[in-house]
Amino acid sequence: MAKTPLDRTSRTYVAGHRGLVGSAVLRHFEGQGFTDLVTRTSSELDLRDRAATFDFFAEQRPEVVVLAAAKVGGIAANDTYPADFLSDNLRIQLNVIDAAVEHGTEKLLFLGSSCIYPKFAPQPIREDSLLTGTLEPTNDAYAIAKIAGVLQLQAVRRQHGRHFISAMPTNLYGPGDNYSATKSHVLPALLRRYHDAVAAGDDTVTNWGSGTPRRELLHVDDLARACLFLLENYDDPAPINVGTGSDLTIAELAEMVAEITGFTGETRWDTSKPDGTPQKQLDVSRINELGWKAEIGLRDGVERTYREFTDSRMAGTARNLS
Ligand SMILES: NC(=O)c1ccc[n+]([C@@H]2O[C@H](COP(=O)([O-])OP(=O)(O)OC[C@H]3O[C@@H](n4cnc5c(N)ncnc54)[C@H](OP(=O)(O)O)[C@@H]3O)[C@@H](O)[C@H]2O)c1
Repeated sequence: MAKTPLDRTSRTYVAGHRGLVGSAVLRHFEGQGFTDLVTRTSSELDLRDRAATFDFFAEQRPEVVVLAAAKVGGIAANDTYPADFLSDNLRIQLNVIDAAVEHGTEKLLFLGSSCIYPKFAPQPIREDSLLTGTLEPTNDAYAIAKIAGVLQLQAVRRQHGRHFISAMPTNLYGPGDNYSATKSHVLPALLRRYHDAVAAGDDTVTNWGSGTPRRELLHVDDLARACLFLLENYDDPAPINVGTGSDLTIAELAEMVAEITGFTGETRWDTSKPDGTPQKQLDVSRINELGWKAEIGLRDGVERTYREFTDSRMAGTARNLS
């Protein structure tokens, strides 16, 4: 596939620029010389509001869109508020993609998630396992919304010939993550729990589930590089996986976090809480063959993230600590 470098003066809208993914995309695109980046917070532009979204696209006419705005959460939030996850995400995607079609956006990258794949998909998960089996029930509403987004892009490509693509990142971590006790993903939840235990002098930490599920983790700065790489090198209706190609158990990850935070006590596992999908490792051979590979090693990435967490906590800028 021929590389088509994006014009650095293209008007580029990063939707969700204060989030984990969007903020990394914004940093990377700025670093790569993009000079016309457009952003709006959700209070300036609620993308669930169709009229407001269309007005924004009519006024700004972005040539490139990275759609990293979404209602996102961990197992607990997904399990408790499935109707919100389905409705908010469907509306955000539908409005942004329709407005992008209407107002002449040339390239759009939609970010999905590895949870769109069936719970028992053969590992590592290939892109063509989409829609071949039952979803993990704890986040099926979110997954269905994301699957609808992938199919919407495929339909838009077919009907309107636009260069709209979708990428499916594995579990992400990095600066600006959500450390909320109820809404966070596995790594920020562990970092916060072990950090708080050390600060409180506790000698035990109890984590959700059995610790046996296997997870793959990608630093969000690697994903941001992949986003630009895909906009320049990938133009296909099929979603494309973005990951590291290796995984570890949650218990192994917890042990790494305990070491990094300086926790020397005992880790317990609350098996009355759900485990989620037993293994989620993406097959990343397609993106690797195109010429992209993850560069940030897990230990290095987790150490960096922990330093950023403690620095932002001291500065009072850490996100969602409630
Ligand atoms: N985190 C992961 O591990 C992971 C893994 C795979 C895929 N992804 C995908 O990556 C994308 C971004 O995830 P993230 O982790 O960066 O999420 P995040 O940190 O929660 O950020 C989401 C962003 O979306 C914006 N947003 C939410 N509702 C909105 C609305 N109604 N109108 C306008 N903006 C709205 C928020 O804007 P404000 O800050 O202005 O409120 C926020 O900045 C999602 O599609 C997700 O599925 C994430």
